[in-house]
Amino acid sequence: MSDSPTRRHFLASSAASATGFGMFNILGARTSRAMVAPLSALKTPVVGLIGAGGMGRANTNVFMDHKVPVAAVCDVDASHAGAAADEIEKKQGKRPEIYKDFRKLLERQDLDAVIIGTPDHWHALPCIHAAEAKKDMYLEKPISHDIHEARTMAAACAQHGRVVQVGTWQRSTADFVAALDYVRSGKLGRIVMARAWKTDEANVGKGQVQDPPKELDYDFWVGPAEFVPYKGNNCHYNWRWFWNTAAGMTGDWGVHMIDIALLGLGKGGDDVALPLEAYNDGGKFAFPDDDRTTPDTQLAVLKYPNAVLQWETNRRPIDGEHDNGTQFIAENGNTVTVWRGGWSIKTKDNQDIEKPANPEGMNGLNAHVRNFLDCVENRQQPRSNIASMAKTTIVCHLINASYLAGGPVRFNPEKLDIEGEAGKTTLAYRRNYRAPWTLPSYA
Ligand SMILES: NC(=O)c1ccc[n+]([C@@H]2O[C@H](COP(=O)([O-])OP(=O)(O)OC[C@H]3O[C@@H](n4cnc5c(N)ncnc54)[C@H](O)[C@@H]3O)[C@@H](O)[C@H]2O)c1
Repeated sequence: MSDSPTRRHFLASSAASATGFGMFNILGARTSRAMVAPLSALKTPVVGLIGAGGMGRANTNVFMDHKVPVAAVCDVDASHAGAAADEIEKKQGKRPEIYKDFRKLLERQDLDAVIIGTPDHWHALPCIHAAEAKKDMYLEKPISHDIHEARTMAAACAQHGRVVQVGTWQRSTADFVAALDYVRSGKLGRIVMARAWKTDEANVGKGQVQDPPKELDYDFWVGPAEFVPYKGNNCHYNWRWFWNTAAGMTGDWGVHMIDIALLGLGKGGDDVALPLEAYNDGGKFAFPDDDRTTPDTQLAVLKYPNAVLQWETNRRPIDGEHDNGTQFIAENGNTVTVWRGGWSIKTKDNQDIEKPANPEGMNGLNAHVRNFLDCVENRQQPRSNIASMAKTTIVCHLINASYLAGGPVRFNPEKLDIEGEAGKTTLAYRRNYRAPWTLPSYA
């Protein structure tokens, strides 16, 4: 691709039509050039991957579909880094350089952006150091391990003027965009309740303390989290079910499905409606005996002045049909329901109401990556920008703070912080960093 201004103009305008951004403009509409630093030179972005597990590699593959060169790969597990480098070399014809320490990768001047696909407890430091190194980011969800990290990361990215797309690709998926457009048009009526859910079948079994595989630097993998021995079932992929490294199903799928509920209750664009209080209950009721520490059964309620939001996870879907979804209930009992694969509008008596056509080109992950690349080029904020996604992430952590505190936790939407003391001593609020790792301070 050439670096001509003509190409830049074409990309900016074709992005608007190809992604439906200009036509529908319901997400990412409140974008601003002033908030992000300009690129020093106009050129095709070169990216590096930090965290070459399942999602990091899936994302990288899509970047390569968009003809983006991948020059570097970093992972603390040499086998994952090597497998990713093999895949990348096969697809783009050039082998990326391999790193174990993300700080070394970030020293490279030729990288414009990084894809961050590390586990949740390892999002904050690569993100903040990438912002300081003036890299843009495609950062996986949930943005952080806890509320304090989310606030710090959003502040760091704002201060350094970065373009950051969080991996909540439902914001670039036609069914979700159309359903939200309908809800926010007011056609359904005033929303009095939103419900979000995901079934939970995760059972990690009983692990045995053992030596980690020789390719894995396990101490580095644990990083700023509390050191716990390697057990086989508490590391790759399964870290999501442990409070030490993640936020359970609420941080895993909740951040996708609750995000849609918060956008539907919001004012439009990327605005998410922030609650005044969270309370919930649950436990390890379905699988009491495995090593997982996060609940497999959870029912949370978020309080708003004129509405209520329910988040539910257990083995049975709320609507009895779809293992994930978000539903809006209007004052007249009519509903909009959206899940991965479709959406519906129904009357109180369950009769279908005709749906408007879905937007063109909103094909999920592919459109989400395209939106990021266009924003890197035109210096606008992407649909899942970090300022907006920090709020959704914080709401998910607020739910978990209430679960861990065992009672209601109040929230101050202006300060984006817990109000009062309840919830503040939980891991969902803030963790102690294990030396030598420290979290930098940002306002
Ligand atoms: N957007 C989505 O739909 C979606 C889907 C799945 C996962 N995710 C997110 O993607 C992220 C990764 O999830 P996953 O399932 O791929 O996990 P994974 O365990 O398969 O991969 C994580 C990789 O990061 C590596 N890693 C850990 N610490 C590192 C460090 N300090 N530096 C470099 N590499 C490090 C691990 O060795 C591993 O290879 C998570 O945040 C998860 O929530 C998003």
